[in-house]
Amino acid sequence: MILHPTYDINDQGHLTIGGLDSVLLAGEFGTPAYFLDTDAVRNMCRLYKRCFAKYFGENSIPVYAGKALCYKGLYSLIAEEGLCADCVSSGELYTANAAGFPMDKVFFHGNNKTDSDLRYALEVGVGHIVVDGIDELLALDGIAGEMGKNPTILLRITPGIDPHTHQKIVTGNVDSKFGMAILTGQAFEFVKAALECNNLTLDGFHCHVGSQIFDIDPFTEACDIMLAFVAKVKGLYGYEAKILNIGGGFGVRYTEDDPQIDYEANIRALGEEIDKMCAEYKIDKPMLLMEPGRSIVAAAGATLYTCGTVKSVTGFRNYVSVDGGMPDNPRYTLYQSKYTILNATRANAPADFPCTVSGRCCESGDLLAEGISMATPKRGDIIATLVTGAYNYSMASNYNRIPRAPIIEISGGVAKVAVRRETFADVASLDI
Ligand code: LLP
Repeated sequence: MILHPTYDINDQGHLTIGGLDSVLLAGEFGTPAYFLDTDAVRNMCRLYKRCFAKYFGENSIPVYAGKALCYKGLYSLIAEEGLCADCVSSGELYTANAAGFPMDKVFFHGNNKTDSDLRYALEVGVGHIVVDGIDELLALDGIAGEMGKNPTILLRITPGIDPHTHQKIVTGNVDSKFGMAILTGQAFEFVKAALECNNLTLDGFHCHVGSQIFDIDPFTEACDIMLAFVAKVKGLYGYEAKILNIGGGFGVRYTEDDPQIDYEANIRALGEEIDKMCAEYKIDKPMLLMEPGRSIVAAAGATLYTCGTVKSVTGFRNYVSVDGGMPDNPRYTLYQSKYTILNATRANAPADFPCTVSGRCCESGDLLAEGISMATPKRGDIIATLVTGAYNYSMASNYNRIPRAPIIEISGGVAKVAVRRETFADVASLDI
């Protein structure tokens, strides 16, 4: 096993993904390609489902955050596993609906839902709209009235804490484009306004503190602030929240330097803290929801590339160029995210070739990793990036008119195409 149970090395010295030989997979499906071990995804869904019911309360269901990875087949899997879903755009709603996902189990997010997003959400029967601010609240109330609907809403509240993760993926700060802050008092005005709306039913509150978080402290802090808020709102307006959704964010091990995370131990500890807080604030425990995205899919994914040019810049460094890059994985370029990248063809050989892994785009910053080592690669070798199940395909682009890579699902030792490879014709298909 390398990092996670999805990856191993076989007798040929090749990396395996979900038990299948990566060199054979690359030959059959081409490169670059994303591979997803759906058995591993299901295991994570089941782990969250079991732990939430046990430690948060029987009615607590994990809400899968589709921004991490979104395509029809995955929504079908999430529906089969009985999870709810968090969608952040009409495009994600459309995909969920097209997959036959039960739309009453969807939470619709976004800091700037347009009127047409709101109408679409009501048309497809979204279960909960997570309203981001007063402006949106009033717009939704009006649209719901026109359409003769009475949607159920949560209010996005900003607890004002810093989860010590990458600044660009922090979302719970006071100075944020998301939600209404407790510290400024605006969250209270928000609740008052929601209770005065004629066409909306307020079900509770939502917050999200950040992503790639390894310990429960930011979550405990957020729960403390949010439960105190629930209690204060009860005192002020006599309104008691039925739902508290504390967002996503549990971390994932990308490299050996990242800590191992025991999700069950974390959820148990958080559940215990929440019970104590509810007793302290003298409120009934709301239905507690969390929205894991990354931790459900990341460790189940891997991307395979074919090695092209290998060159040494004398006195500087070695570059290993692969046939993908920032179009399929922009996370190093955007956040300097670290990945485990290896020579999948020679996975048993010592990783003694120091290198920078570069993509194929016409841009110097198109890198996948710097300062890593792998077994000396040759043109034609298969290079793998592990733990790419989250925020890779969902953030992919067509930069340089490069067609997007396919997603190949692996389950029970069988691989099948779940999202086909884009063609050049696909890429040019919208040009008039
Ligand atoms: N719920 C809400 C309201 C969120 O904003 C997010 C992530 C999640 C759930 C899921 O969080 P997760 O469990 O996946 O950490 N593109 C960035 C990540 C941005 C995350 C934004 N919100 C990346 O590649 O790291």
